[in-house]
Amino acid sequence: MADVLIAPSLLAADFARLGEEVDAIAAAGADWLHLDIMDGHFVPNISFGPVIVKALRKRSQMPFDVHLMITPADPYLAAFAEAGADLISLHPEAGPHLHRSLQTIRSLGKKAGVVLNPATPVNAVAHVLDLTDLILVMSVNPGFGGQSFIDSQLSKIAELRRMIDATGRPIHLQVDGGVTARTAPACIAAGADCLVAGTAVFGQSDYAAAIKAIRGAGA
Ligand code: DX5
Ligand code: ZN
Repeated sequence: MADVLIAPSLLAADFARLGEEVDAIAAAGADWLHLDIMDGHFVPNISFGPVIVKALRKRSQMPFDVHLMITPADPYLAAFAEAGADLISLHPEAGPHLHRSLQTIRSLGKKAGVVLNPATPVNAVAHVLDLTDLILVMSVNPGFGGQSFIDSQLSKIAELRRMIDATGRPIHLQVDGGVTARTAPACIAAGADCLVAGTAVFGQSDYAAAIKAIRGAGA
C-alpha cells in the first residue's frame, strides 16, 4: 500500500507569516495543504476566506484541499474554485442538496469531498459516491484545532474503507482532528489514506520530522 498522504492544516500555522509557513511545509514534505474555512455560524469559530486562498495559491504548487465549514456553502463554491482550490469538501448539513453541491464542484473542474461529523452516519454519503473524490471523517467536532481524537470514529473509518473498496473507484479516505504520531497508526490500520494534522505539524519546531513521524507511524 502506498504511503499515507499528509495534509497539514494551515489553521495551526503562524497567521502573521502565512506565506513562509506554506513554503516551509512544502519543503518539509507535505503532500497537500488543508485549508479550514469557518464562518462562525456552522462552527463556532471564524478563520479565513477565498482572498487568503488566492494569495497563497500564487506561491504554492501544492494541491489545495479546502474544507468548508460554512453554511450555506453553495453560494461560495465558485469563489473557492476561482481562488485556486484543487479539492473542495463540504458537510452534508451545510445545505439541502448535497448531490447538487457535489455536481457544482465537479462542474467547476474541481475534486469533490464529503465531510462526516462525529455524529453523522456513513450512509449520508452512500448514495453520492459516484460524485465523490474524497470522504473526510471528522475525528473531533469541527471548529478548533488542538482537540482530542474521538476513538469512536475508527469503526466509521473501517466501514467507509469497505464501502469505498466496493465501488472500485479511487476515493480518498481522509481523517481530520486530533491526528498525531500516536493516533495516526489506528487511522491507517482502519483504512485511511490521507491524514490532516494541524497542531501535530505546525505546533512542532521541525516540520519535516513531524510529518515523517505521522506518516511513518503506521509502518
Ligand atoms: C477542525 C479542523 C481541523 C483542525 C485540525 O475543525 O477541520 O482541520 O485544524 O487541527 P488538529 O490537527 O490540531 O486537531
Ligand atoms: Zn479541516
